[in-house]
Formats: sequence, C-alpha cells, structure tokens
Amino acid sequence: MGNFSKQVAIITGAASGLGLVIAHKLLNEGVRAGLFDINDSILNNEFAGNVLQREIIGLDVTKENEVRDAVYRVVDRFGGIDILINCVGITGITNIRSHEVSTENLQKVFDVNFMSCFYTSKMVLPYMLANNYGRILHISSIAGKEGNAGMLAYSASKAAVIGMTKVQGKEYAESGITVNALAPAVIQTPLVDAMPEIQVKYMTDKIPMKRCGTLEEVANMAAFIVSRESSFTTGFTFDLSGGRATY
Ligand SMILES: NC(=O)c1ccc[n+]([C@@H]2O[C@H](COP(=O)([O-])OP(=O)(O)OC[C@H]3O[C@@H](n4cnc5c(N)ncnc54)[C@H](O)[C@@H]3O)[C@@H](O)[C@H]2O)c1
Repeated sequence: MGNFSKQVAIITGAASGLGLVIAHKLLNEGVRAGLFDINDSILNNEFAGNVLQREIIGLDVTKENEVRDAVYRVVDRFGGIDILINCVGITGITNIRSHEVSTENLQKVFDVNFMSCFYTSKMVLPYMLANNYGRILHISSIAGKEGNAGMLAYSASKAAVIGMTKVQGKEYAESGITVNALAPAVIQTPLVDAMPEIQVKYMTDKIPMKRCGTLEEVANMAAFIVSRESSFTTGFTFDLSGGRATY
C-alpha cells in the first residue's frame, strides 16, 4: 500500500518532463490516474504497464470540451477525483523583447499555460467539493514570480497561474481542498532543450546553487504538496529555485 492508494489523480502533461516523473512517482505509490497529454502515443509507450491503474487520454488542454470529456472519463472509470496536477506548459517564443512579441504567440501561451489550468480546475472542483477533499497543484514557474526578460508571454501566463492559485486557495479553504502552485527555476527537460541557449544561460546564471533542479526533486516536492499530510497550506506558491526566490 503506497501513500496514494485509494486516491485518484489527474496529471496533465504526463508524457514528458515534470509531468512524466510526477506521474510515475504517484503510480508507484498506488494512485489511480488519468494521464492527459496531446501526445498520447508517448503516453502509451511510457505507461505501457500500470494498465489497471491508469487511463491514458490524448487531448488538447486548450479545448474546454476535450477537457470536460476527459474528466468525465476518469470519473466514470475511477469514481472521483482527489488530486489534480497541471504540468502542461509551453514557453512560446523567447529571447525577444515585449515590442517584438506577437499577439498570436502570447495568446497561445496563455491558452496552454493559463486557460488549461482554469478548465481542468473548474471541471474537477465540483467532485472535490462533493467529497470535502482535494489537492490541486498548478505548476507555475519562477518566471511568474520574478518576470524573466525575454519571456513576456511565459512569465505573464505563469503569474496569472499564481494569481488564480491565490484566489482558488481562499475560495475553497473551508472545503478540505488545497490549491497550491509550484515555481521551479530550471529543470533540464525537452521544454528547456528547445529554448535558445542564451535564454537558458540567463535563467541558470540566476540560481545561487549554481545548478539546475532535478526531476527527482520536482517529483518529491509535488508528491508532498498533494499528499494528505500537506493540509494547512493553500493558495501558496512553493519554491523550487535553488535559492533564487527567498519569498
Ligand atoms: N523545465 C523547466 O525548467 C521548468 C521550469 C519552470 C516551470 N516549468 C513548467 O513545468 C511544466 C512542465 O514543463 P516540462 O519542462 O516538463 O515541459 P515538457 O515540454 O517536457 O512537457 C510538457 C508536456 O505538455 C504537453 N502539452 C503541450 N501542449 C499541450 C496541449 N495543448 N495539450 C495537451 N498537452 C500539451 C507536451 O506534449 C508535453 O508532454 C510546464 O508548465 C512548465 O512551464 C518547467
């Protein structure tokens, strides 16, 4: 019996990076999970085992109707939802100044990074309210706390996620539901690999520990935040930045 047995989670962005390691950790600890990603072939490869424990759903999280249908599928199969972890995210075009940002790109980044967190949390909250229990974790970023030059769309969308976390934390504070965010600095994943080297150097140079965070560090902290034991913290943005943010 793991820490999460008898619990049901939804993890978005589970095919890669942070979502992938968090999903594996929670499955190893007994959770039953809806694994959401636009890339369902990778999900099928990565989670070829765990058949009884997981429901793989390929979807675009920027489409509210697809999110709704996916949440229904998870509830139909597993009977409820205890945990939501939003890991989907894109940087959009980076290493450009604000006057060079295209409206289309900024809108896309907001759709993926912010609207997806709104759609998924809106859909799962009624189930959590009915159960008087829930744990929601939105993966934000240090960019949302501090604002990274060259990353307007990303930083602003992640700040919006932090704003929503504060609101949701307060709104559901008396309902057994916690809503928190996590603000990592740089973790080596395909998202970072795809960024211009100069932008990655800008971000890593700011980390006092002089190293990137590890996927294991992300998974451990995420698992704690969504655990039953983490019960008196809500509306908060947890730090995972090697000392960059001390607030
Ligand atoms: N890696 C870092 O250094 C870092 C730092 C701070 C915050 N974050 C945040 O952590 C989260 C995970 O990042 P990562 O580094 O693991 O990225 P990643 O690119 O490795 O994984 C993101 C996943 O999201 C999926 N995805 C993208 N758009 C989608 C859509 N419209 N619908 C469904 N799925 C979609 C991708 O297919 C991919 O599997 C993101 O929100 C990111 O902003 C990452």
